[in-house]
Amino acid sequence: MLFVIFGSNVLPMKLFLYFSVLLGLFACQELSKPKQKMITEKDIHSFANPQNTTMNHLNLDLKVDFEKKILSGKATIYFEKNNPNSTELILDTDKLVIKQIWLDGNEETTFKLEKPVLHLGQSLHIKIKPTTKSVVVEYETSPDAPALQWLEPEQTAGKKYPFLFSQSQCILARSWIPCQDSPGIRFSYNAKIQVPNDSLMALMSAKNPVKFSPNNTYEFEMKQKIPAYLVALAVGNIEFSEIDARTGVYAEPSMLEKSKKEFEELGKMVDIAEKIYGKYEWERYDLLVLPPSFPFGGMENPRLTFATPTIIAGDKSLTSLVAHELAHSWSGNLVTNATWNDFWLNEGFTVYFERRIMEELYSKDYAEMLALLGYQDLLADVEEIGANSKDTKLHLDLRQRNPDEGVTEIAYEKGYFFLRRIEEVIGREAFDKFVKNYFSTFSFQSMDTDNFVKYLEKEVIKGNEDIAKQIRMQDWIFGVGIPDNCPKVRSVLFEKVDSALVDWKKYKKADSLETKNWSSHEWLHFLRHLPKEMTIEDMKILDKAFGFTESGNSELQAAWYVHCIHKHYTPAYKALENFLMSVGRRKFLTPLYTAMSKYPDMKKMAIEIYGKAKKGYHSLAVMKTNEILGLK
Ligand code: BES
Ligand code: ZN
Repeated sequence: MLFVIFGSNVLPMKLFLYFSVLLGLFACQELSKPKQKMITEKDIHSFANPQNTTMNHLNLDLKVDFEKKILSGKATIYFEKNNPNSTELILDTDKLVIKQIWLDGNEETTFKLEKPVLHLGQSLHIKIKPTTKSVVVEYETSPDAPALQWLEPEQTAGKKYPFLFSQSQCILARSWIPCQDSPGIRFSYNAKIQVPNDSLMALMSAKNPVKFSPNNTYEFEMKQKIPAYLVALAVGNIEFSEIDARTGVYAEPSMLEKSKKEFEELGKMVDIAEKIYGKYEWERYDLLVLPPSFPFGGMENPRLTFATPTIIAGDKSLTSLVAHELAHSWSGNLVTNATWNDFWLNEGFTVYFERRIMEELYSKDYAEMLALLGYQDLLADVEEIGANSKDTKLHLDLRQRNPDEGVTEIAYEKGYFFLRRIEEVIGREAFDKFVKNYFSTFSFQSMDTDNFVKYLEKEVIKGNEDIAKQIRMQDWIFGVGIPDNCPKVRSVLFEKVDSALVDWKKYKKADSLETKNWSSHEWLHFLRHLPKEMTIEDMKILDKAFGFTESGNSELQAAWYVHCIHKHYTPAYKALENFLMSVGRRKFLTPLYTAMSKYPDMKKMAIEIYGKAKKGYHSLAVMKTNEILGLK
């Protein structure tokens, strides 16, 4: 496989330059304002060959079959020819059954589906003619398509109708759409989705319906070009409730009111975000609250963020997650990481922007709590990965690996602290100007680490050695561990928690602790810093006073249950089991199963619970949990 490291001249640079410049040119045609042409790193996680052809539009016509757990129908791929002599179009697929393919909708053609390659699925080679503009692929997904999760009615809030949702990031789009599944390739799309009955609504990362369709068919349009990992679909008994003119919430009927209440600041968040980094480019911003088996906290599907119901805490305490997904409307969805090695460009910027939104919405003190929790997460991950591991570099090397392995706190929090360091050195005003320009200059384009470095040198460092030395960009991006110029976060609110912890250690009296105005962030800080030598008796006192075992806040539950596992605190076992049985969010499952796997008795219990819970988990959570428990 061709692998080009930008800046090195080892590989066929000529060819590479050619296709990249072409890509840039096509991007130019798309938009009225002039765009910079860019040479970006080759995506090692896609079979697509953009030197020859790049898809630019998708038309989907699919039928949803809950009985067979498949989608079936046609995908029409429109493409540009970058090389006029190209005789084939290569698409990414995974476990798809390809039935027939036509050129420009009318002429049957031949194709070859190659053998599966580890992590990548199968390449689909379609014979095309010099004049071909599009291909129609008739296909069917597999019942175990990794992107799709098919839920039985009992796995939903309403318990009456089945539910389906997709999760395409990083490279799972290919398991439900034959496409060029690379974050560096963008296309617009149209879709027609047929559902089995008129109590089911289909939603996509596109212009969405607000009512059930009497003919069971929904039509979608996404005019802006997006990469394949942002194409999304959900089908269920879903209703809509408006928050303001451009924001609203979709959820199962029984979840709708509390979702709306929890997220009533959605519109305000979009206004704040626009004020900081410029126009929101996607028209509407709606939120879809999914059943609890959704494997992530949130997924930034354009126009329609997918979210876990575990952030509905009743007190808006976990809504920074929504700020995060909203921030992706700029970092990620407008300016997209060119390959998964550049994942930090998506997530680091997004965490930074998320905290800026929260600072504006609440206060600096509030945002600093989030930053400090983030720093704790970063330290824990660096310790787990190993401070000298190359996986602690911002720029990753995911060759021969599943890009999912790059999803660690390095991208999120080391990325955040690097950007915060730049802000610290040049000041907020200059930094904001830089970021705003970055988003507008590269909107609807992809960005890789090397081009980012160049841009930063040009716009921020400008040959000033003093600034360069203070930032130490190379150490942050290409070096391991956390550089020692990492910004220091001080949280006054957490200092109060720290003194409560001191009191607790001294007197072991829970009732006299000053916890009255604590938000869930303070509680999380408290839970994370409970003394290692805590006894079962101590835990009983705390649990009685603060009700951690039965908390309705998923973050606190997960943090508390980790202690319960290490200390073998049996009164919480049932609640832990219920939690693992009902929640599929990988962020919670991973630490809990990891802790359980450390003790033989608990590992046995973990395997038993997992055996029952697994059918409610998404393939991404299953993959991770199998690894933790040493199964398969
Ligand atoms: N885009 C990510 C989720 C993701 C990353 C899915 C990589 C698949 C592969 C999303 O924006 C995200 O970061 N979600 C976080 C929330 C956040 C507040 C850090 C999550 O789900 O926990
Ligand atoms: Zn994110």
